[in-house]
Amino acid sequence: MSYKVGQKDNFKPFNLVIFGGTGDLAFRKIYPALYNRFINGESTVEFSIMVVHRKEMKETFFHDSLSSALKESTAEFYDEDKYKEFLKHFVLIRIANHSLGGYNLLAKEINKNNNRHSIYYYSTPSNVFGEISSLLKDLNLINENSKVVVEKPLGHDLASSIEINNTILSAFKESQIYRIDHYLGKETVQNLMVLRFANNLFERAWNSENIDNVQITVAESLGVEARAGYYDKSGALRDMVQNHILQLLCLVAMEPPVSLDANNVRDEKLKVLKALRLLTSESIITDTVKGQYTRGRINKSEVNSYLEDLGKYDSGTETFVAIKAFVDNWRWKNVPFYLRTGKRMAKRYSDIVINFKPVKHDIFPAKEKMPGNQLIIRLQPEERIELVQMTKIPGPGGYRYKPISLKLDYMDSFNERFPEAYERLIIDVIRGNQTLFMRHDELSAAWKWTESIFRSWQATQMKNELYMAGSWGPGSKLMDKNTDWFNDASIK
Ligand code: BG6
Repeated sequence: MSYKVGQKDNFKPFNLVIFGGTGDLAFRKIYPALYNRFINGESTVEFSIMVVHRKEMKETFFHDSLSSALKESTAEFYDEDKYKEFLKHFVLIRIANHSLGGYNLLAKEINKNNNRHSIYYYSTPSNVFGEISSLLKDLNLINENSKVVVEKPLGHDLASSIEINNTILSAFKESQIYRIDHYLGKETVQNLMVLRFANNLFERAWNSENIDNVQITVAESLGVEARAGYYDKSGALRDMVQNHILQLLCLVAMEPPVSLDANNVRDEKLKVLKALRLLTSESIITDTVKGQYTRGRINKSEVNSYLEDLGKYDSGTETFVAIKAFVDNWRWKNVPFYLRTGKRMAKRYSDIVINFKPVKHDIFPAKEKMPGNQLIIRLQPEERIELVQMTKIPGPGGYRYKPISLKLDYMDSFNERFPEAYERLIIDVIRGNQTLFMRHDELSAAWKWTESIFRSWQATQMKNELYMAGSWGPGSKLMDKNTDWFNDASIK
């Protein structure tokens, strides 16, 4: 028996207009996601994908790039006939330097089918959002059914994020704006909502009475790749913590929403963000660590240092960050949330670990203190949930016990292909469901807290600790025995 909520409603004919349609994100994420939903039979309505590009480009070149991107990302699900069908939905539109001529071509294409609603996907740097929005508005290409999808980074601090928001809000209403955070589209992340709010067992224990600390880790073995220019202006804090990690924290810490309605969920996440304790020039020293990778080895291959990747002699940008955060509210009083992320770590590995307090009175006295239960929600590389509990080791002669994991392996339990985060999110945009997208006030609250960190780093001139690529990051005060970095010995 399975229980369904909100299935396949509101699927109406659409035009998806992708600005930056020949960019890396479009080929790696957006088109594969659309193709997968297409072959899954989801896109039964009429639709066009309008690829807006700046440079001159032959149609055949685009087709070749698209088919190789799809082959690479969809592997065994690639089907040449279906690809050809899919391709029929594409229209290429060149708009060089925001020329009016180009926008008129787009308008003509959109106006061909006025039964469709338009979704504008801004997969471009945010400094052109304003210009695109006002041209679309001037040409009457925005109506109450239109939507806009925007990608991060949405600003580099609170003021710039408000400015970007205002440019979008000059053309669209908040209810039409979809700010993507692809972590919210991951299956295990959504499962966190079901785990918490559909299982009485956990919700009862989900508070400072029972939980000792929470650890959220996103470790990547990749470096900055071709994005060094962007990354050097951003760093791990803005690139990963301000958005993805804070969203995970919100889902762990929020109160049960009244319903799954988008605004109810977002109201609860906002309360968490507002309750985050701001860092000061005192707490920044004890409660954060920042680091940068030096040369090292990953999977037996030599890899460059960050500075070599960047091609510079000097940079203060952090590629690793660890933060001890507090949510100052009734439920989470004094429970530390350890947030960590880094590039060029030993492995790609992400999880959320809920460390429960040990039993109040231990009747099995052993040399070591009895540890508490752990709930491990693994996001990467495999999606899995584990509940670590104390178990007696069989045999006579007193009690010997050890922690054993009850494992729910998603792959084993659900023998089907796992949709990529973007599949879920793009389909939600088409259906008009904003639950998994950030509202402007969430974004501002996230920036306010993030700003307290980088401002305090600046004020105290805190330096990066260097760590070797292929290690688990700088050994530090935030990684002592009680806050063990990695909880699963198998990954060490
Ligand atoms: C992106 C960051 O938002 O998320 C990248 O800009 C990072 O730096 C990526 O590598 C991680 O996403 P995932 O889904 O691979 O964990």
